[in-house]
Amino acid sequence: MKGIVLAGGSGTRLAPLTIAVSKQLLPIYDKPMVFYPIGTLMNAGIRDILIITTPHDAPLFQKLLGDGSNFGVNLSYAVQPEPGGLAQAFLIGEEFINGEPVCLILGDNIFYGPTLPERLKKAADLKSGGRVFSYEVHDPERYGVVAYDENGKATSIEEKPENPKSSCAVTGIYFFDSEVVRIAKAIKPSARDQLEITDINQTYLEAGELEVIPMKTGDVWHDAGTHASLLEAGRFIETLERLQHIHVANLEAIAWKAGWIDETVLERQMNAYSNSGYGKYLKRLLDRRG
Ligand code: G1P
Repeated sequence: MKGIVLAGGSGTRLAPLTIAVSKQLLPIYDKPMVFYPIGTLMNAGIRDILIITTPHDAPLFQKLLGDGSNFGVNLSYAVQPEPGGLAQAFLIGEEFINGEPVCLILGDNIFYGPTLPERLKKAADLKSGGRVFSYEVHDPERYGVVAYDENGKATSIEEKPENPKSSCAVTGIYFFDSEVVRIAKAIKPSARDQLEITDINQTYLEAGELEVIPMKTGDVWHDAGTHASLLEAGRFIETLERLQHIHVANLEAIAWKAGWIDETVLERQMNAYSNSGYGKYLKRLLDRRG
């Protein structure tokens, strides 16, 4: 399965933070935001990843991430000239997708759960149709919202409804078969002139081909698209690292544990980051090897 991180957009909800710096390069505690969605794709076992950015931010992402070999993945880059909606990712990525199933993750979405990697890997083992994850929130009107029938079967997904039919938001990770490119070409821009991911989900749902997987107790999802959620996500990561010694989105660590990089690369990266907690965590991994 291929992976796409959508890191475009103008980040207007975070202005003035985002005037000079792309939202997805802002820090979530000790790492740039984009590390988290990349780490989530890696936890799903995905190694061929396309990063979509605005044209002017592309060089910064390339400086930060390179070709991905430092953390055992193959990165390619593409640009979204104008923010035209999340579903545009499948049109921009058509050549990269190349007829394979694909997972799209939003560049501001932060996922954590002790057993989440297993479930992500299962979700990535997709033969046909689509899979999304839902999460209970207090403010569903900000998201795509799932409605259920009395048997708990998903019946519709509405984008930012004024009167949400449930408190279950569709999170920003989407697994689809290769049909998604054809579907993305067929949908029409919404009232806010965007190709909505919700219309793609709704198309799969109407065809009886969308699995909505509820996230479990203990799982955490943050959409770091507002000042409050950005701060909350950073605090959450800081707490995990300080109290539980868990490093979310340490990309080299994920790659090392998966056997995607060897000791030479791990050691080089440890030295590159030796003055920060990120590098010290890699040192602990190296010291424990064998
Ligand atoms: C987008 C999607 C929405 C989804 C959310 C998850 O909203 O349109 O369906 O629930 O991402 O982060 P946005 O954050 O772009 O407003």
